[in-house]
Order: sequence, then C-alpha cells, then structure tokens
Amino acid sequence: MSNEFQYDVLIIGSGAAGLGLALKLPDSYKIAVLSKAKLTSGSTYQAQGGVAAVLDDGDSTEAHIQDTITAGANLSRQDAVAFTVEHGKESIDWLVEQGVPFTREGDEYHLTKEGGHSHRRIIHSADATGQAIQQTLIEQARARNNIDLLENCIAVDLITRHKLNLPENRCIGAYVLNHDSGHVDVFKAGSTVLATGGVSKAYLYTSNPDGASGDGIAMAWRAGCRVGNLEFNQFHPTCLYHPQAKSFLISEAVRGEGGKLRLPNGKRFMDKFDPRGELAPRDIVARAIDHEMKRLGCDCLFLDISHKPDSFIKQHFPTIYERCLKYGIDITKEAIPVVPAAHYTCGGIMVNQHGMSDVEGLYAIGETSFTGLHGANRLASNSLLECLVYASSAASHIISHNHPLGELPAIPAWDESQVTDSDEDVIIAHNWDELRRFMWDYVGIVRTNKRLQRAKHRVDLLQQEIGEYYSNYKVSRDLLELRNLAVVADLIIRSAMRRQESRGLHYTLDYPESGLEARDTILTPINYDWR
Ligand code: FAD
Ligand code: SIN
Repeated sequence: MSNEFQYDVLIIGSGAAGLGLALKLPDSYKIAVLSKAKLTSGSTYQAQGGVAAVLDDGDSTEAHIQDTITAGANLSRQDAVAFTVEHGKESIDWLVEQGVPFTREGDEYHLTKEGGHSHRRIIHSADATGQAIQQTLIEQARARNNIDLLENCIAVDLITRHKLNLPENRCIGAYVLNHDSGHVDVFKAGSTVLATGGVSKAYLYTSNPDGASGDGIAMAWRAGCRVGNLEFNQFHPTCLYHPQAKSFLISEAVRGEGGKLRLPNGKRFMDKFDPRGELAPRDIVARAIDHEMKRLGCDCLFLDISHKPDSFIKQHFPTIYERCLKYGIDITKEAIPVVPAAHYTCGGIMVNQHGMSDVEGLYAIGETSFTGLHGANRLASNSLLECLVYASSAASHIISHNHPLGELPAIPAWDESQVTDSDEDVIIAHNWDELRRFMWDYVGIVRTNKRLQRAKHRVDLLQQEIGEYYSNYKVSRDLLELRNLAVVADLIIRSAMRRQESRGLHYTLDYPESGLEARDTILTPINYDWR
C-alpha cells in the first residue's frame, strides 16, 4: 500500500548539504531527510582532505577568492565566490559547535594545503574529514524530534502544480520509492530541497559512491529547471590503482604535505607541465597524468610520500595508510599506484544565493547545484564549504518564505497498475556499463568534436531504448538511476558540444585555446517529456 506524508520541508539527501540545512531550520518545523540508501551513503562520508576556509592571520579572504577564481579558469561568478568565502569562518565555527573533532596541533587547529591554494587553509579531521562531519551531523539530527531521517527512500520525481495541470507552477513534494515496502509514496511539502550530490557515476572510473547518479539534476530538469556548466566534470588526479580497490581516493593533502608524482621509472614529471608542480590545480595535474600514461602506454603512475617520517604519515593519513596496507602497499616505504577518476560535478541545477531554483518552492544545495562558485574547475576543498554556506542561506530563505501548500486537490497516487516486475536486470546492468564506458572514452579528460558526436549518438539510442523498453517496468533503484544517468549524460554531452574552446576541465583538441570571453553554458528545458 502506498502512503501519503506531509512535511514543512522535504530534504532529499543526507550529506553535508541536506543535514546542514535540516539542523539550521527551527525545531518547530516538521522535516524529512531522505537517503536512497544508508544515511552515510553519499560523497560526504568519503571526503578526506577537509574544508577550505580563511582561519589563519597570515591568510585573507582576498587570497581565497583569487585562488578560487584562478582554479576556476576565470569562469566563477565573483559574487558567488565572495559570498561563499566570506561565510567560511562562520561555517567552520558552526561545525565546531556541533562537535566535529578537527585535528589540532597544540592549541591551534592544524591546517593542511592542497592544489591551487596559496596558503594552508584546509581544516580537517586527519584524512577522514567527511566521516567526522557526517557522523556529527547525524548525531545532532537524531537528537532533534522534528527531523525524520529516512533511509532507503528513493525520490522518483518531483510533484509540481504544472504536473497536476494547475496554474502557477510550484513544487509541492515528491514521489518516493520506499525500497523496503516496494511502494511509491507521496511526500507533500511546503518547501522541497534537492541535496542529492553529483553525477560522477556517469563515468567508468570514479572516486564517488554508487549513488552519485545525478538524480536531483535529472528530476529538476524534468520539473522545468535550467542547468548550468555540466561539461565541467572534475577528474581527481590520484585514485588508488588496484584491482580490488573500488573508488578509493588518495587525498590531495598527500601532495599538499610533500607527496611527489613519479613515472614508472621513478622520475618526477609535473614541473614539465606547470611551475606549481604537484600542487597545480586539479585539471592540470589530471591532464598531465593522462598525457604521461598515454605517452608511455602504462596503466598507472605513482604518488610517493615515503620520504616523510613513518610517524608523520601514520598521524596525518591513517585511513590511506591502512587501506593501502590492506592491498599490500606500505606507503611509508613505497610509492602508491594512482590513476585519475571522475570526482566532482562542477555544474548542476541553476540556483541563486539562497539555493532557489527556477521552480518556486524548490531549492538545490550542495554538489547538485550550480551556484557559480566553481567556474570551470573546483578549487580543492571548496565543496564542503559550499554545502554548508548554501545550507545556511537556503535555511534563512525558507524560514522567511516557507511556502504554505495552500488548497490542493488530492495528489494522485503513483500508478502501479501498469507495471511489470523487471526480470531483465542483466539488460539494465549492460546499459549502465555501456553509458559509463562511452562517457569515459568520449567525454573524459580529453575531448574532440568527433568523440562528442559519437557519445551523443549513443546516449540518444540509450534514451530511446529506456523510453520504449522500460516504460512499463516496476520502478527499482537501478532503473531509476539508469534513467537519470542517461538524462544527465545527455545534458553533459550537449553542454560540452556547445563549448567551442578549452577552459578548465573542458579540454578539446579541436579548440585547444580559451576563448576571449568566459561564458556559462546554460541549458533550458523546453517541453521536456519526462516519461
Ligand atoms: P552527498 O554527500 O553526495 O549526499 C547525497 C545524498 O543524496 C545521499 O544521502 C544520497 O543517498 C541522497 N540521494 C541522492 N539521490 C537520491 C534520491 N533519488 N532519493 C533520495 N536520496 C537521494 N570535498 C571537499 O570539500 N573536501 C574534501 O576533502 C573532499 N573529499 C572528497 C573525497 C571523496 C572520495 C569524494 C567522493 C568527494 C570528496 N569531496 C570533497 C567532495 C564532497 O565530498 C562532496 O561534493 C560533498 O560531500 C557533496 O555533499 P552533498 O551533501 O551535496 O551530497
Ligand atoms: C582530497 O582530499 O583530495 C579531496 C579534496 C576535494 O575533493 O576537495
């Protein structure tokens, strides 16, 4: 049996953005926070390096702003950068108040360094910062009676007044598949917030957890929201290369603390590509690794921190040390085999400074959103900061404008009468693999017009197949994710085709130079048929 629930605020996503927002709303609000799997299943829990903020007297907001704009290849929006950076310290103070145990050195917090930063400004919890933040926020949310934390609840689609054939479009909630009951429930809400993370799972190799399938971006697009700058998918230069290690990142902080990148013959190479060497912005380092791997025909390169004292390595990178040791690599004695992998979605759902999307009553915060902060390439550790700053500004807006639901006709229950059980999981799995492989090969670190055209052809076929073949299948997590991945992959390819220049993360052999004017790529949905 399907159920109907009503909340003041429905938050889809339980990462730093979603939980941050829930905790910033007053106790008097009835709030639901949904996660498609465990509460810890998003990228937040995996974050290693830390959170960037100006916390040291020798540093300045101007320097953090400039570093962000430089890393973003001059495409970042000045106002979004200033807004985020200026709210950095208060976001960290708030995390400390919640109880996040950041690493100390004597009386001070230890600040580490990462690529593209001109100062040490990354506050962290050893090399497991995301875990510390996530656990603390979950604990705080559990202590609040007004917040329902709901696991295994997968948002299928947003419910808007337009979809109910009513005038004045506004989001009034979502259809949600309860994985345990197998039914699709109706969640009505005064305000609905997408905090669903990124779409790096569109690529064959990724640092992200399995759920990073861009559900929020696809749902917002189907509901009529514009999306921006989706061609800028960030590839992290250093993921562990090992047949059994799925998606394990080797933090940029390893390079920040002196780690050197080496070729298989032990030689360093980054100085050939950028005077900042290993600490150049990520797009440059990932492209350099990709170039050297292709030139030498090798499967991986190496990251070496073994020249540092054992005690330093174990104290600063306990998680990385343990995980590598599990695979037989002792990082205190030998270099770590690494490859680049899809890591972060710089574009997303277009929002303003309050996280408001184009549809009234619908907000988007965190990695799923496009605020203008990251430009063509995100500066390391600016993501968790953005989650917290926009969680806070969206909370203020919701508090002052919480949309009453008003008079509504009953929302129709999800139609389960026409569906059949999918006995074709193998086909869904095949489609997933196919998509992730052509995205990696054709829409990856180095692009060309021809590769993008091939990718477009394939994604069109896939979308047609999904429409025709699966339309009367029972909704399942795999099927929903495949459908969303195909929608967002199509948007990524279309955005990449529009950008006829190389800038930041978008590098194409057909237009190797940057254009004179830095412009965003904005796509607008026109009569999008979501089914
Ligand atoms: P997430 O934390 O990804 O959470 C997404 C949530 O949405 C999950 O709860 C998921 O279940 C839910 N969800 C998604 N779709 C649905 C649906 N259809 N229905 C219901 N729920 C749904 N950034 C930094 O700033 N510093 C770092 O050190 C850092 N290290 C990183 C290391 C790794 C390995 C990775 C992968 C990322 C790292 N990042 C880092 C990036 C950063 O962690 C993420 O950008 C950030 O955590 C995103 O937070 P979020 O709240 O937007 O989404
Ligand atoms: C890392 O620790 O290298 C990840 C930092 C980030 O993605 O911001």
